[in-house]
Amino acid sequence: MRNSIQKIQNFKLQHKKITALTAYDYSTAKYIDEAGVDIILVGDSLSQVVLGLENTTDISMDEMLIFTRAVSRGVKNALLVADMPFMSFQEDIKNTAKNACKLIKAGANAVKMEGSSDFIIDSIKHLSQIGIPVMGHLGFTPLSINSLGGHRIQGKDASRTVEILNQAKRLEEAGCFAIVLELMPDKSAQYITQRINIPTIGIGAGVDCDGQILVSDDILGKYDRFKPKFARQYVSLKDIILNAAKQYCVDVENASFPNVSESFELEYKEVCELENHK
Ligand code: KIV
Repeated sequence: MRNSIQKIQNFKLQHKKITALTAYDYSTAKYIDEAGVDIILVGDSLSQVVLGLENTTDISMDEMLIFTRAVSRGVKNALLVADMPFMSFQEDIKNTAKNACKLIKAGANAVKMEGSSDFIIDSIKHLSQIGIPVMGHLGFTPLSINSLGGHRIQGKDASRTVEILNQAKRLEEAGCFAIVLELMPDKSAQYITQRINIPTIGIGAGVDCDGQILVSDDILGKYDRFKPKFARQYVSLKDIILNAAKQYCVDVENASFPNVSESFELEYKEVCELENHK
């Protein structure tokens, strides 16, 4: 059975760190799930790391649904959260609810929404009322990259940290079950984490958040267009893929692939009959 919202929230009370990773396809989701990760996020980062697009704003609702369905088929134990993509929650609350329901129907247990404007707060309240759990996202919010002026660290002084804390409190009051804190000084994230009751999941926000999330392609060393300072890489899938593909080319070119065990045999009498056809 998948982790419940209550279980994730209890981790904060138990001082057990929450583990979270993104996933975008069935098999990666299955292995990450088997490894015991608490939360799997179908992040809109898939726009860049899977589809090769420039920004997270480039992915559509229909595309998010395809990847959420695929990931959902691989997830048995983790809580599955799907990102609400750009323009799926900015129009009106009815439309927001419709899109959130589509993600839940695609297999997500909760949705994630960036920001804390009055409109977002009303949307979170509405989704909570209709039984859709919402994860918030504060600090650097990639969908607002144009107004934030790039990948800038947020909460860089005391007053801006207090501003983010106030946003976090509003999200908590509106009904969010957890909040992602992205790209901020460790002490700012710690200050916020200690003053709200719901878990914070940090990405580039220091060790004192209640949990950590990273983009799976970053920990696996698969996406090489950009390597964030805060992402720890555990393996280089890029090198593994490059080496495997190069070796495959060598094997094909020198005819060592396929070998007998990788081929299907024609019975001897059929071979003779074929020869008689000549
Ligand atoms: O889209 C994403 O991958 C995210 C994480 C970075 C939190 O939102």
